[in-house]
Amino acid sequence: MRPQMATACTLCIGNFKGGVSKTTTAATLAQGLTLAGHRVLLIDCDPQGSLTTLFGILPDSEVAPEDTLLPLFNGDQDDVGYAIRPTYWDGIDLIAAAPVLFGAEFALPARQMNDQAFEFWRVMDLALDNARDAYDFIVIDTPPSLSYVTINALMAADGIVMPLPPSALDFASSAQFWNLFSDLTSTLVRARGGSKRFAFVDVLLTKVETTDASAILVKKWLSAAYADKLLQIEIPKTAAAIAGSAEFGTVYDQLKNAPSARTLKRATDAFDRLVDLIEDQAQMFWSNQTERLGSAQ
Ligand SMILES: Nc1ncnc2c1ncn2[C@@H]1O[C@H](COP(=O)(O)OP(=O)(O)OP(=O)(O)O)[C@@H](O)[C@H]1O
Ligand SMILES: [Mg+2]
Repeated sequence: MRPQMATACTLCIGNFKGGVSKTTTAATLAQGLTLAGHRVLLIDCDPQGSLTTLFGILPDSEVAPEDTLLPLFNGDQDDVGYAIRPTYWDGIDLIAAAPVLFGAEFALPARQMNDQAFEFWRVMDLALDNARDAYDFIVIDTPPSLSYVTINALMAADGIVMPLPPSALDFASSAQFWNLFSDLTSTLVRARGGSKRFAFVDVLLTKVETTDASAILVKKWLSAAYADKLLQIEIPKTAAAIAGSAEFGTVYDQLKNAPSARTLKRATDAFDRLVDLIEDQAQMFWSNQTERLGSAQ
């Protein structure tokens, strides 16, 4: 459990490739963490609002601009508190997204142009201070692009989880993610004398089909490329309806209705293991944090 002195562990679920299971992973992991007794804030940073939809909220009709992070990125708010709403799932609060959030892609560069001292990439990080005291985990779902908002999410994170299906094309684009990201941090952060370190970086195999022969080869490449960053957990590809979809919810939602379904059990077992692992990594992050705080006193 999170020590009292420590603050929330913030996770960014990211991959610039679309459809790799970012949103499904964010929602399911958040649920799993609550089942282990944690309080979780989920943040939808994708103007598509898929995570918002997954929680039964319609981005187009039920989310006003002021319910999203747009006012934060516009500079009208400086703490995310205004946008936090409860959800149907005990222990999870949500910051919703809607297509208007795309406005942040104009607002942030405009603010940067007008004020050289402004650091567009730190807006979200700075706005999470109160939330970090109120929650054990903050899980941020990002869009499939290197947007200004995605950069904010990555910079606010203590750890990164990159969902990655074992396919050759997804593997190739995952390399671009890290290249672009390291270019970016060196240009933005180091140029200003800052630094950005992550407590952990995890590559999570998603949508894994046991019968797919090519996946075995790609998994070999992945473990060569990512070494111990590649988690020894595989999220199975489950029947389309079972995977996170607005109609059916996540595997944890479905397990409530069909506790004896074997395929579901396989998927929730994989997520339970992911939760254990994230908890271990968070524990390490928290003990480093309390040590630092202790020695600063
Ligand atoms: N383990 C899984 N098994 C089967 N289908 C899955 C699995 N995980 C996700 N999916 C399905 O794949 C599609 C994409 O998933 P998801 O929306 O989570 O990906 P994403 O990376 O967030 O996509 P985007 O880049 O558009 O935000 C969805 O239809 C989802 O239901
Ligand atoms: Mg998504």
